[in-house]
Amino acid sequence: MSKYEDNSNSRLRIGILASGTGSNFDAIAEAIDSGRVDADISVLLCNRPEAKVLDKAKARGVCVEILRHGDFDTRESFDAALADILDHAEVGLVVLAGFDRIISATLLRRFPNRVINIHPALLPAFKGTDAQGQAAAYGVAIAGATVHFVDEDVDHGAIIIQAAVPVAPGEAANSVRQRILAQEHRIYPYAVQLFAEGRLSIVGRKVIVKGRKSPGDEAVISPPLPD
Ligand code: GRF
Repeated sequence: MSKYEDNSNSRLRIGILASGTGSNFDAIAEAIDSGRVDADISVLLCNRPEAKVLDKAKARGVCVEILRHGDFDTRESFDAALADILDHAEVGLVVLAGFDRIISATLLRRFPNRVINIHPALLPAFKGTDAQGQAAAYGVAIAGATVHFVDEDVDHGAIIIQAAVPVAPGEAANSVRQRILAQEHRIYPYAVQLFAEGRLSIVGRKVIVKGRKSPGDEAVISPPLPD
């Protein structure tokens, strides 16, 4: 009997990789509990024993595995160990939710087109760390978040969904961070559900979302136009 979530039904099984607070983990778990996402979290993998996400996962009864990246000689051997656990848990989708290690081809080859990430910027702008700080310092009027498939380049894979938020003049990076995060919690569970429904296909570097609604012509304009 596996210690991971029972796999006797046909629901998508996801493995979440996280290193920090785990608010995106919670948003996805909450969406599953409320029936908005047809999936089960088979395992939470974490590389930091002190991470708050561990308490969140334990509180929800999710199986937790801690793998310290420092215990491995190479990125590849760490990724191989992650992939072994994900394989053993029979996950169909790997969800990076604030995981602070770069994922190498060693893991990606074992889960082709089955690894997704959320980045707190409107890619391809502001790749890398502290994207919200980069956006605030640059003086953008609109910031946002992106869910994308992961490929071998950092913050580069095909885009699944984005959300935009206006930035007030002189707004502090932390304020921008909070407002982007609120949108992350809306779009990440939805992206998982699109995957669970089999509605995502990658064509070149574009994602086709089967049956998507027309976006309409509503816009985020910052500063707003006068009434
Ligand atoms: C989020 O801002 C996410 O976009 C980035 O890391 C942060 C994780 O936050 N990749 P949390 O741990 O889910 O609260």
